[in-house]
Amino acid sequence: MNPIDIIIKKRDGNILTKEEIEFFIDRFYRKEIKDYQMSAWLMASFVRGLSKEETQYLISAILATGNILEWDFQVIDKHSTGGVGDKLSLVVVPILASLGFRVAKLSGRGLGHTGGTIDKLESIPGFRTNLSLKEFKNLVEKVGCSIISQTEDLVPVEKEIYSLRDVTGTVDSIPLITSSILSKKIAGGAKTIIFDVKVGSGAFMKNLKDAEELTSWLIEIGKSFSREVKAVISDMNQPLGFAVGNILEVIEAIDTLKGNGPRDLEDLAIEVVGTVASKDLAREALKNGYAFRKFTEMVEAQGGNINNLNPSAKIYNFTLQEPGYIERLDAYLIGEAVRVLGAGRYKKEDNIDPNVGIVLRKKIGDYVEKGEVILEIYYNSEDRLKDSIELIRKAISLNKDEVRRHPLIYSVYS
Ligand code: URA
Repeated sequence: MNPIDIIIKKRDGNILTKEEIEFFIDRFYRKEIKDYQMSAWLMASFVRGLSKEETQYLISAILATGNILEWDFQVIDKHSTGGVGDKLSLVVVPILASLGFRVAKLSGRGLGHTGGTIDKLESIPGFRTNLSLKEFKNLVEKVGCSIISQTEDLVPVEKEIYSLRDVTGTVDSIPLITSSILSKKIAGGAKTIIFDVKVGSGAFMKNLKDAEELTSWLIEIGKSFSREVKAVISDMNQPLGFAVGNILEVIEAIDTLKGNGPRDLEDLAIEVVGTVASKDLAREALKNGYAFRKFTEMVEAQGGNINNLNPSAKIYNFTLQEPGYIERLDAYLIGEAVRVLGAGRYKKEDNIDPNVGIVLRKKIGDYVEKGEVILEIYYNSEDRLKDSIELIRKAISLNKDEVRRHPLIYSVYS
């Protein structure tokens, strides 16, 4: 077999065989197929598409480059397709654990304008996300939940493919996203996976039709690997909750676990847990403090301390000199505005600033008086603040008439 023939076959819109896909991924993993050839193949697959069978073969080929975690008991995982202000895992994982589920979550860092659960958790002083698999398993068994970063030995080739997609304009393809996400989730060993598929300006899927299509791929192909798959499609036209930025999001997640969080974050958490458990019990877990206790147990077991979570002391109040109803609070641009403050990366080696970010005071549909604070910017550098304000100006539009609020949840697959 020859890699060039495989690239040409896909370029010309033909269906690849299992053997061809296995060969291509395996040789890329062994570095016999070069980055530029993989990039060409990814672009051909992006433009021509992959069938569901090809996507299954791709997932199997990626899984064959690493290990699949084995568990002696049933574990569950929750995964978001990526958003802004999306601290949902920090709320959902402890709720599930407090209800008796064992939750084993392998998470990623921020990608582009979107935040990552690992960056958020690492803003907690002392919190270790690089546990060994043995420690991870032990915690899932003893505490009921643990969240760690993707490890090298599970799906090593996926990371390489993802880095190339990130720089070749081939991220937002349904088959490629499906293979990327499902290979990681299947390698984590959970038999039940709950997906939170985001749709809107701050998500990879910009419209509902694409989000529904991605969800059906995740469910159908996930099931073909003997996984039970549940899903919620939720709005990402504006940030989830009020806080965007690592430590600010942890603080908001803790408030939510104590029953004092933003309505949308709490409602979505309950809906996501509701795909596998009773919503009443989930609400009860927030009210009676059990979910918060689970979160504290997990943080302590992973070396963290939530007693001193201090965002930056420099705060800029963002206002507009006109009144109106908020019509747009563009999640993508708000994500970018937080990234320029230092909360995210431009290169994978960049260090992030855990203490900067934005706290919204208003959401879409709310009325603002002239000069009223719309959001607070927590910053550490005047130059970065200036760039951030510029993006925020572009992110917000007002309307003198009342505007329609977006639904929070579009569909639930349970
Ligand atoms: N998240 C992933 O892990 N992979 C993708 O391709 C997109 C979002």
